[in-house]
Amino acid sequence: MPKPRNVEPKWVNIEINGIPLQVPDGELLIEAAKRVGADILIFCYHKYMKPVGMCRMCLVEVGAKQPDGSVRKMPKPQTACTLPCTEGLVAWTESEQIIKDRRAILEFLLINHPLDCPICDRGGECPLQNNTQFYGPPVSRYIEIKRHLPKAFPLSKYVAIDLERCIHCGRCVRFTEEISGDAQLAFLFRGAQMQPHTFQLTEFTSRFSGNVIEICPVGALTSRTYRFRARPWDIVTQKSICSMCSNGCNLYLDSRSGQIVRINARENPAVNETWTCDKGKFEQTYMHAPNRLTQPMRRCGGDWEPISWADAYELLLARINEARKTGGGQAIAGIAGQRLSNESLYLFQKLFRVAFQTNNLDHRLTRYQGNLARDVMAQLGYPTSGIEYSDLESAPLVFVLGSDLIEEQPMVYLRLRKAWRHYGVKVIVAYPLGTPVEEFAEVSLRYPVGGELELVRALANALAAPPQDEALRATANLLVQSPGTLILAGEKVWNHPEAQQLIPALVELTQRLSDAKLALLLPEANSQGALDMGVLPDLLPGYAPVEEAAARARFEVAYGVPLPAQPGLSTDAIFQACLAGSVQVLYLAGVNPLEKHYDPALTARALRACDFVVVQDALMTETARYADLLLPACTFAECEGTFTNWERRVQRFWKAIEPPGEAKPDWLIFAELWLRAMRQTPPFNPREIMCEISELVPSYADCTYEQLGDQGKRWE
Ligand code: SF4
Ligand code: FES
Repeated sequence: MPKPRNVEPKWVNIEINGIPLQVPDGELLIEAAKRVGADILIFCYHKYMKPVGMCRMCLVEVGAKQPDGSVRKMPKPQTACTLPCTEGLVAWTESEQIIKDRRAILEFLLINHPLDCPICDRGGECPLQNNTQFYGPPVSRYIEIKRHLPKAFPLSKYVAIDLERCIHCGRCVRFTEEISGDAQLAFLFRGAQMQPHTFQLTEFTSRFSGNVIEICPVGALTSRTYRFRARPWDIVTQKSICSMCSNGCNLYLDSRSGQIVRINARENPAVNETWTCDKGKFEQTYMHAPNRLTQPMRRCGGDWEPISWADAYELLLARINEARKTGGGQAIAGIAGQRLSNESLYLFQKLFRVAFQTNNLDHRLTRYQGNLARDVMAQLGYPTSGIEYSDLESAPLVFVLGSDLIEEQPMVYLRLRKAWRHYGVKVIVAYPLGTPVEEFAEVSLRYPVGGELELVRALANALAAPPQDEALRATANLLVQSPGTLILAGEKVWNHPEAQQLIPALVELTQRLSDAKLALLLPEANSQGALDMGVLPDLLPGYAPVEEAAARARFEVAYGVPLPAQPGLSTDAIFQACLAGSVQVLYLAGVNPLEKHYDPALTARALRACDFVVVQDALMTETARYADLLLPACTFAECEGTFTNWERRVQRFWKAIEPPGEAKPDWLIFAELWLRAMRQTPPFNPREIMCEISELVPSYADCTYEQLGDQGKRWE
């Protein structure tokens, strides 16, 4: 059964260390103990996995309260991680017996554990080391020779394993079975020789392999990219949000001497729980790429010439003024990247609309450049996504269309798999090729490449009259029988050549199903923010059409200047206008259209044809090579701001390291341009910009940094 929503749990009365308390019926004692601050040691227990009681570290004494008020004690200690709370349960976590038992367990685990601590990556943040120090025996009585197994060797591209250090808690093995579902790790051999490994001693190729490093309670599994690069006491940890896709995973960035040396998951039960994918954990290294831009440069013949920021701003504004004199606002255009923060994107559109008097701005590089958000909102009442992660667990049916979920949206994949495994949520998947979702899907539909529109139309017909095709009939039956279905549409939908017809067809299908909701899973860390902040030729921030007088008037009052009323050009139209010579200045901020635009040939021709191309980016990309002016920008690790993820959750990230050279945060570059172009005081920090957004954008009302806190907030 799907997880019931908003059901009030039954409460039971228990007592821990003499403290009476009420907890939900069936809550594990280990979790209940946290409510009174009782310290129960653990190794094998993990909040997001099923308890197994393998390590015996969490022993407690328990009893049951009798009707006469006395307590009947159980003769042997019990494992708190497997014991559900029931009415009248009494537990002691610090009794003399438990202190003795704990010490014995730690002594037992240390029999074969090598005393590698000074050279172990886990040293300083190792639960075994900490528990031994606080609760273990002061000396070892074991004088025999320890078991010896192979020392650290690579298990995969990212993970190294040191078999001697393993304490057989099973967390890594259980992770691959329960969470990632690839079941790549297992325990080989038995007794003292037992070893966690891949079945055939092959490479560990899970897309979520990095998680086993974080959950291993000792230094048996370590990161090959972090090994020997730092110790816990010489790293600085900062909270952040992943910039690699729209899932919005909460992260910790660990830096040493200004370099990010490690990325770990930060727990957010509403988003990534406590997991990351390998892309976010290991491949987010572009902030230290050798091709970082570190100072403003202007083209000088075939070469680059470093210039000061002041000269760069002067040059840019001079070219913009020149273009405006000949072609008005229409001679200027801007495209912003979808990894820029909300604050940067908001200021970008404000700069263009107010200072440069043009609506020629966009962020879309897909084939579909119609009014996705406005069309969906008009029909369904929400732009792009009407659901959040936890909805997946309480839905009766989830229909994944046109997305290789594990590649495109790894955390959505993990949550969907959890929903199926724990709550019996049914899944239908439709994709041209086989995907890992097929392994647990009730129905799998494989269709020819590009066949999404035909499939949606066929499904709509199948709802009315049962078709011959068995899979289609089964899908239609499931859709009809499951009120509250969630439809997740991926890249093959929003980047479809006929998305203009496909998206309305999908919206119509959603409307025909009882209580169904649609989510268009957008690609990048802040794709949703770019829509919300109005980096679009025809929509103001908050989805108000630019020709709509009332909405425009509200912004004009706030900005103190008239806004251009005429809708601007979309990305493709901007490129065509560059070719036609009508756009003379093209400003590309944090975007690499030569890599990401669906038609790189058109992009290259447009970049060559445009009079003056400004590229503001962190890296020297293929696109940057066409620039006449290069402005070095910060990565997300070097500044602060917010991203809005696919479920429309706004989350803060913080500055973790200093930017290289003269690179500046994108918002600051726009603010300094604003000061020079408008002669008005610019905002001094992202917090101030967010205050302005919260005042002017209805869908971000009250969205202040205080409201967002550490874990973000989802605005309806
Ligand atoms: Fe546990 Fe680590 Fe051994 Fe895996 S390698 S069983 S996580 S101690
Ligand atoms: Fe309870 Fe391991 S944590 S047995």
